[in-house]
Amino acid sequence: MNVLPYRIRSPRKYNVSNPNPPELISEAAIQKRVTELAEQISADYADRGDVVLIGVLKGSFIFLADLSRQLTIPRTIEFIAVSSYGAGSQSGAVRLVMDVRGNIEGRHVLIIEDIVDTGHTLSYLIGMLKSHGPASIRTCTLLHKAERAEVDVEIDYVGFGIGDEWVVGYGLDYAEENRTLPYIGNVQPTD
Ligand code: PRP
Repeated sequence: MNVLPYRIRSPRKYNVSNPNPPELISEAAIQKRVTELAEQISADYADRGDVVLIGVLKGSFIFLADLSRQLTIPRTIEFIAVSSYGAGSQSGAVRLVMDVRGNIEGRHVLIIEDIVDTGHTLSYLIGMLKSHGPASIRTCTLLHKAERAEVDVEIDYVGFGIGDEWVVGYGLDYAEENRTLPYIGNVQPTD
C-alpha cells in the first residue's frame, strides 16, 4: 500500500560547498512525516509479529534511527551496504558490499532507504534479499525521485516525492558533505 508522497517545490540552487544549503524540506516537516510513517507501518505490521528493518548504508542511517524509535511493533535492526559499478556510469549495475548479519529467513523484512532515484539499488536489494527466504519484503524510502525511475520497483512507504535535483542532509550527502544537516537541502553539483 502506498502512502501518497508530498510534493515539494524547487528552491534556488547553490554551490555544493555551501555548508548551509537552502532548505527543501524542513526539520519539522521531516519529523512530522516520520511520525506518520511510523504510525502507518506500526498499524500495517501489528498482526505480523516482528519486523526486521534493513537500513541501506550509508544514507539511511538517520532516517532509520528516527523511524525505528517511533515504531510501536517489535523490531530488530540490520544494515546492508551496496555500491554502484563505476561512479557516474549509466549501467545501473549494483554490487553487494556488506550483507545482513542476522538470519532473516521466515521473517518480515522492511528495507529502509533514504532515497530512490533510478530504482536500480532497491530493485537489486529486493531480488538479493529474496534469496534469504524472508516471509515478506516491503520497502520504505524517505525521498522518491519518480521522474528518474529506470526500473519498475514497488515502494510501499514514501516520505516525500521530489523533483530531479540533488539533495543533501538527514543522511544524504554530496561527496560525503552535508550528511548531518537536520533538514533536506538542495545543492548544485559543481562537476
Ligand atoms: C543512494 C541511496 C540509494 C541509492 C539510490 O546511495 O542511498 O541507496 O543511491 O539510487 P538508485 O535508485 O539510482 O539506485 P549512494 O550511492 O549515494 O550511497 P550512500 O547512501 O552511501 O551515500
